[in-house]
Amino acid sequence: MDEPIIVAEGLHKRFGDVHALRGLDLAVRAGTVCGVLGPNGAGKTTAVRILATLADPDAGRARVAGHDVVREADRVRARIGLAGQYAAVDERLTGRENLRMFGRLHHLSRAASKRRADELLERFGLAEAADRVAGGYSGGMRRRLDLIASLIVTPQVLFLDEPTTGLDPRSRGEIWDSVRELVSDGTTVLLTTQYLDEADRLADDVVVIDHGRVIGQGTPDELKAALGDHFDVLLEDASTLSLASGVLERLTGSVPVTPAPDRLSAPAPAGLRLADVVRELDRADISIADVSLRRPTLDEVFLHLTDDPARPTPEPDTRNERAA
Ligand SMILES: Nc1ncnc2c1ncn2[C@@H]1O[C@H](COP(=O)(O)OP(=O)(O)OP(=O)(O)O)[C@@H](O)[C@H]1O
Ligand SMILES: [Mg+2]
Repeated sequence: MDEPIIVAEGLHKRFGDVHALRGLDLAVRAGTVCGVLGPNGAGKTTAVRILATLADPDAGRARVAGHDVVREADRVRARIGLAGQYAAVDERLTGRENLRMFGRLHHLSRAASKRRADELLERFGLAEAADRVAGGYSGGMRRRLDLIASLIVTPQVLFLDEPTTGLDPRSRGEIWDSVRELVSDGTTVLLTTQYLDEADRLADDVVVIDHGRVIGQGTPDELKAALGDHFDVLLEDASTLSLASGVLERLTGSVPVTPAPDRLSAPAPAGLRLADVVRELDRADISIADVSLRRPTLDEVFLHLTDDPARPTPEPDTRNERAA
């Protein structure tokens, strides 16, 4: 098999007392979208910055598009694009001027920069606003401009750090379409996101990180299957919640979660059928409005992974104080 286009092995990064990455491993296949998920402060931006050559790891190594991110940073830079968590556009320039400037920074000729800027503004729906200063753009327009800027020279690998945070649903959809289009042109995309539905829709593979290391990975379907199906019970009467919770716990062997005062959910152990659950709730005189057996959502996978008491927490440090 070909070498993955992004490989990281045992990346460590400290900021004073804060151990942001604690041996992060990553492998992304060429031509795919890898979604990196993790709670605030998990180390996502730190990992992206190292892979994009903006920061050096303290230990471990990484290769992007066949080149070492530290020893061959220039070669990596020539092959990647990056749209960061904080938009990098110059507010005093217009959208078009910003893009021409990025073109020049990438050593395109004046004419080529102009051509490429016009083409991208058109393609990504910013043509109308192109001659207004970016300082007056909405959050969504700025993000789109930032994304376009990372595409001035078609990158082999594109890093997107929370590309759609704060965007309205339509703008998010447009960014998703752009990402799909890029991937169909052969670009590999690594994106971080707080939105599980974004990862579910866009990513071929998902990597969940917490406390600076990988705590789960696979396709969205694999991750959901690994967590297993869930029984969902909707009660007629919320006052029966604790009674119903007891019945469900006895049947499933897990303490149910209660997403709403009249709703319960618990993982389904092998062999327990929906009919058994209905019968036992009925026997306890609990009226149910609805009961179902369903696949977990990626949200549930995420909550389960990032809040798993069975997983040892790393040694305490000041990361929470620093993250505040
Ligand atoms: N330049 C820095 N100086 C000090 N601490 C830092 C620096 N950059 C990151 N950190 C710390 O490293 C940890 C990981 O930060 P990072 O930005 O990588 O998290 P993240 O997963 O991107 O979080 P978020 O979802 O909030 O963007 C945090 O505790 C953060 O405070
Ligand atoms: Mg971040």
